[in-house]
Amino acid sequence: MSSKDKVLEFLENNKDTYISGEAMASALGLSRNAIWKAINELRKTGYEIDAVSNRGYRLGTSNDIISTAGILSHLDGSIKNLYESQPDLIRIYDSTTSTNRIAKEFAIAGASHATIVLAKEQTEGRGRREHSFYSPEGGLYMSILLKPSHLKTLVPDEITTATGSAVCTAIEKLTGQKPRIKPINDLFIDDKKICGILTEAGTEFETGDVQWIVVGIGINFDSDIKAFPSDIRNSATSLFSPGQSSITKNQLAAEILNQLFSQKIF
Ligand code: BTN
Repeated sequence: MSSKDKVLEFLENNKDTYISGEAMASALGLSRNAIWKAINELRKTGYEIDAVSNRGYRLGTSNDIISTAGILSHLDGSIKNLYESQPDLIRIYDSTTSTNRIAKEFAIAGASHATIVLAKEQTEGRGRREHSFYSPEGGLYMSILLKPSHLKTLVPDEITTATGSAVCTAIEKLTGQKPRIKPINDLFIDDKKICGILTEAGTEFETGDVQWIVVGIGINFDSDIKAFPSDIRNSATSLFSPGQSSITKNQLAAEILNQLFSQKIF
């Protein structure tokens, strides 16, 4: 992990308190100069970091930048250990074609079970049956690579439904809103779509053996629904209005992983 990522993880884990550069340096085994440089780099990438003399630094409350450190700070139990020991399992893009497509490329290249791909926006987001999935900034777009040897079922509908149920539980736990699953791959709040799920797989053609599965989740998080194309504008909704979220995308992504990997089939 780079010094910048270490400092970010430390700030994420201590969000409510100011920490001096000296305390951070000693906790992370870095020099004070390295801390100062990391803080400056983080600010350059858009993080708001409060600094108060004699008290130190604190991550501003309005930051909502998807990051490995941010996700790690909200993971639980064994899944936290997994991603903490292998942070490269988390791949984050500002903009990409489709997180499912990238995850499938990783799968073909031999990436490990539980590799996740996240993006701020997708330019070629895909839904079921070759439909497109409108994916502007404000959404949470995430794909998870699963390997059959780690799963208790390979029935596609069971994997999609288990994912939908993990997303529902995560949303309800963090926001109090209660989405319902519209079988098989959509989640609705107040009769409007909040989330779509796309499960894809690669098989060895001759034997029919499943080699990998990619589950993609697209959630309207604090999306500007008024700016959605007219054909989906009236049937879509978002968890929050733009810039009004009471939680971060890192929190929701982590809670989905907590819920997903604590289910019996994963
Ligand atoms: C649907 O509504 O039919 C399913 C939509 C699935 C969208 C998600 S967003 C993350 C992942 N990447 C994609 O291109 N699609 C899925």
